Amino acid sequence: MSEAKRLAGEKAIDYVEDGMIVGVGTGSTVAYFIDALARIKDRLAGTVSSSEQSTQRLRAHGIEVLDLNATGPLSLYVDGADECDPHRRLIKGGGAALTREKIIAEASAKFICIVDPAKRVDVLGKFPLPVEVIPMARSLVAREILKLTGGQPVWRDGVVTDNGNWVLDVHGLSIIDPVGMETALNQIPGVVSVGLFARRPADVVIVGGEPPLVL
Ligand code: A5P
Repeated sequence: MSEAKRLAGEKAIDYVEDGMIVGVGTGSTVAYFIDALARIKDRLAGTVSSSEQSTQRLRAHGIEVLDLNATGPLSLYVDGADECDPHRRLIKGGGAALTREKIIAEASAKFICIVDPAKRVDVLGKFPLPVEVIPMARSLVAREILKLTGGQPVWRDGVVTDNGNWVLDVHGLSIIDPVGMETALNQIPGVVSVGLFARRPADVVIVGGEPPLVL
């Protein structure tokens, strides 16, 4: 699958224009995008990173990482996903970077999602849905999620997000109304963000292959 990830990551370079500040997501597919970005780094005005992991990889290549508060809106964001439906709605957060990813997606005019073919599904929810929570609210949020969705929240024990929070993974969902579920879960006190990207789906999905498929 890593060959498909590499092909998707490299195809996303087509969307990078000279002088851009590029939003950069997190994960194994994005790692290939970062490596490809390094080859054209002199043409960039910088990047905004969604995780400490990506920041480290960007800086190791000598690519500048900027603070989103200093850049204003971005033209382009490139990130992976854990699941992608035919409407380019996504489940993200397998790497626990969902909150910063969601912030950068919202700040960006164009969101390009890069995936391998195994990420494509008809209905989201087979991949457990990550929800970032304030630690003291973990049990409260878990009870509310169970009531609202019928899914089984499982604490990702031992994982602390870059924001100092915890993650619940909700198992057993079949998400027929992704926008409705994203909106409802966002209302629970203690929820920081939900790994459903439905209200702001990807604008383009690149599925790695020979040749890559652009949806
Ligand atoms: C990070 O929290 C996730 O949203 C990633 O975008 C996702 O897990 C990426 O998956 P890959 O590692 O398969 O690219």
